[in-house]
Amino acid sequence: MSVENSTHADVSARAPHRHAAYDEATFARLAADAEQIIARYPQARSALLPMLHLVQSEDGYVSPAGIAFCGQMLSLTTAEVSAVATFYSQYKRRPNGEYTVGVCTNTLCAVMGGDAIWQELSEHLEVGHDETTPDGKVTLERIECNAACDYAPVVMVNWEFFDNQTPASAVETVDRLRAGEPVAPTRGASSVCSFKAMSRVLAGFPDGRADEGVGAGEATVRGTRLAREHGWTAPAFPGEGGAGTDETAGMQPEATPGTTEPEPKPRAKRPAGTTPRTRTAAGAPATRTAPEAAKAAGTPEVGAEQSSAQRSPEGPADSSTAAQDKKQQSEQAKES
Ligand code: FES
Repeated sequence: MSVENSTHADVSARAPHRHAAYDEATFARLAADAEQIIARYPQARSALLPMLHLVQSEDGYVSPAGIAFCGQMLSLTTAEVSAVATFYSQYKRRPNGEYTVGVCTNTLCAVMGGDAIWQELSEHLEVGHDETTPDGKVTLERIECNAACDYAPVVMVNWEFFDNQTPASAVETVDRLRAGEPVAPTRGASSVCSFKAMSRVLAGFPDGRADEGVGAGEATVRGTRLAREHGWTAPAFPGEGGAGTDETAGMQPEATPGTTEPEPKPRAKRPAGTTPRTRTAAGAPATRTAPEAAKAAGTPEVGAEQSSAQRSPEGPADSSTAAQDKKQQSEQAKES
């Protein structure tokens, strides 16, 4: 999620509904859901993020009534709720389309074709970023990395993955969505649900569809599969024994003859003069507080009596600065 800027037009559009509230039946239904959400947290106000998703599952965006509802349930002011709701782009400030189509234009996806997909979709749908098609079906967005770079370029529909996309495949997807035809993500659920339905899942009410389709894709499991084939294991911590000693941990067996996989390289040797992390007799890593570490390194503690501003010049950089000060004082004396 990223920061979304407010516009004067947004504020003006919402002003007439500032005192909107849910009717009694809707309030009672949402309040029952909210109680479940709030019960998950030690502090009620910590439930605000899922509560905002709950509101979106009802209204399709964070409505004025939704903001008032969250405030009432969590003992927050509407200003406090709005401050959070307006910070994250995943919370919509005006009615969203039935499907949020997000095109990843972050670095890897962009160079792999994400920019071309964005351009094609924007022209095809005749909408820009965070704009919705006139039929209310699709809200198009540029999105940041969704940690699916191994499938770049990636398109998300209501946060379901569509991997290895092209401009043509993305256009086909949005056309099918607008026509009401079933669309299947590459991984996860076997179909795409509506924005409201997805918002309810994000509020913490699973719909049971998460594992319907393909779980992890080929690119994700490739490393694990190779490790199993070659008998590679994670190195042990120094002193723990097991998979390897301190010097040999991380050394991998050579690739199986006949495979074309590159041979993994041994772990880089520790630089001279450094020491391994020590462990206590109980096996737990020995920890130092920051001041202890600073003391051991000969560095004054922050805020201690001798800060860097107080101590005498002693290093090359300090000497250089002192020499410059001396020279400047000498020149000033000559001029006077
Ligand atoms: S850059 Fe697109 S998923 Fe990471």
